[in-house]
Amino acid sequence: MVEYYIPKWEEIEEGILNMTERMLSEDFIPDVIVAILTGGVIPAKLMSDVLGIKNMRYIDVKFYKGVGNRESKPIVRAVYVDNIENKKVLVIDDVSDTGETLDFVGNVIAMFNPSLVRTATIFVKPWSRKYPDYYYKVVDKWIIFPWDKWEVVRENTEAPVDKKERFLEILKRLRKTG
Ligand code: PRP
Ligand code: MG
Repeated sequence: MVEYYIPKWEEIEEGILNMTERMLSEDFIPDVIVAILTGGVIPAKLMSDVLGIKNMRYIDVKFYKGVGNRESKPIVRAVYVDNIENKKVLVIDDVSDTGETLDFVGNVIAMFNPSLVRTATIFVKPWSRKYPDYYYKVVDKWIIFPWDKWEVVRENTEAPVDKKERFLEILKRLRKTG
């Protein structure tokens, strides 16, 4: 039986503001934000708007295949990174679980010779071997973010999310037409 943690938007916003405040108190203002696709995109967008930083890059990397079922290492699909040499970089994702993704992306980013790299994830699992420089909360459950709830329900229809019946109805119709 999987235990879920389901943060509301309010908590996501709180997490982003909290991490930004700590960055400022350390005088760390990045030149570039690198979002880890796909879960890091919305946190990165929120962070970029708070900081007023339009300079964004992306790394398309995937680790988990589904709830409790994962590949042994992250798989890179594409690296949309350029012009970060001698720049201060903030790598952002939604969660660090095993820490493999952050570790891996850190190595990829280092090849571009930035002057400084820091990492931020809203949540971190207590067992992660790579804690980010900035995080909001340690959570030991499977987190269902507002931006990945339908992905989770596709994998596990038991997942307790809002508006599930409507989504499952849509899924049924898609399967009929597909
Ligand atoms: C999830 C999550 C993090 C990563 C954390 O992404 O968004 O990127 O796993 O796990 P780790 O610390 O054990 O590496 P996922 O690979 O599922 O891809 P997604 O963001 O596209 O959903
Ligand atoms: Mg991810």
